[in-house]
Amino acid sequence: MEMETMHILLLFIIQILVQGSKTGANKVPAIIVFGDSSVDTGNNNYLPTIAKCNFEPYGRDFPGGTPTGRFCNGRLPPDFLSESFGLKPTIPAYLDPMYNISDFASGVCFASAATGYDNATADVLKVIPLWKELEYYKEYQDKLKAYLGVEKANEILSEALYTISIGTNDFIENYYTIPGGRSSQFTVEQYQDFLIGIAEDFLKQLYHLGVRKISFTGIAPMGCLPAMRTTNFMDNHGCNEEYNNVALQFNGKLSKVVSKLNRELAGFKLVFADGYSILLEIIRNPFKFGFEVADVGCCGTGTFEAGILCNLEGPFTCTDATKFVFWDSIHPTEKTYKIISDYFLMHSKEFR
Ligand SMILES: *[C@@H]1O[C@H](CO)[C@@H](O)[C@H](O)[C@H]1NC(C)=O
Ligand SMILES: *[C@@H]1O[C@H](CO)[C@@H](O)[C@H](O)[C@H]1NC(C)=O
Repeated sequence: MEMETMHILLLFIIQILVQGSKTGANKVPAIIVFGDSSVDTGNNNYLPTIAKCNFEPYGRDFPGGTPTGRFCNGRLPPDFLSESFGLKPTIPAYLDPMYNISDFASGVCFASAATGYDNATADVLKVIPLWKELEYYKEYQDKLKAYLGVEKANEILSEALYTISIGTNDFIENYYTIPGGRSSQFTVEQYQDFLIGIAEDFLKQLYHLGVRKISFTGIAPMGCLPAMRTTNFMDNHGCNEEYNNVALQFNGKLSKVVSKLNRELAGFKLVFADGYSILLEIIRNPFKFGFEVADVGCCGTGTFEAGILCNLEGPFTCTDATKFVFWDSIHPTEKTYKIISDYFLMHSKEFR
């Protein structure tokens, strides 16, 4: 082999090695969260909304037994995700005045319970609309740059793992609930496409802000939420299959957008983490996962309570939430969230 060819070959090999080790060192320095109550770690505590839960029995199984504003008896998926990446065991809410940018540098949550893709959904209970979550994120970027310097901040922002969980409320709190609202303007199919357009736009905006790694989840099997069973008189309080089908269809459309953006946007690592099937599997086979009850929640009667109603119905709350798939009539228990998080992790190896 000629000297020059060998030289080029050598350079080429070195380049591969360097790139390889770069990917190997792709450690996740922060977890950054957008979405609704499935991932809100306490932002709504600081809003004038009734969509709050910073009181008992919420947080009963959280470290210290404290209600934090998480719609759960314990921790949420982003907390588990953070811990499993060797970061802190709980993610602070951006609006919590107890924390500042030095805490947020390794993880921060912009999510707001009761919000959705649609601005009109956030309006229902006066919570943070998705566009505003993005505004907070931009403000966070600026603060992080001021705190760590532009270069270090950009490294964290592009290597961080972003997790997004939103969309269920657009249907259960808005489309199917507000008379004369979205359901009088859109067929359910049109409404799905309207939301998908917002989702795609949101993901593109994140990309242009330097975000690269996203674990993006679709919507829940909402027809099986205890609150939806309660109103399903037609089917003897079984799962509302119409709602489940809408969720499935919506998730199918989302996953197409995910594939498209992965193709179109260079360096974008967007993973569609499908929570629908694993949650439905748990609901259909609770015993397999160590649960005893899947059709009602733990708090109160389990059939309609969430938020303040859980507090009012406190005396009826179950004693052992680990037997329940659902904590209140809308939200899973910590044990269910842990199973879902483990499942997500298994499917997001590329982020490790
Ligand atoms: C953040 O808060 C801690 C503890 O309250 C304080 O020591 C630190 O100076 C604050 N950092 C910034 C950047 O404000
Ligand atoms: C939601 O509201 C924001 C702020 O007013 C606006 O910029 C955005 O276009 C709205 N989104 C949609 C889909 O209407």
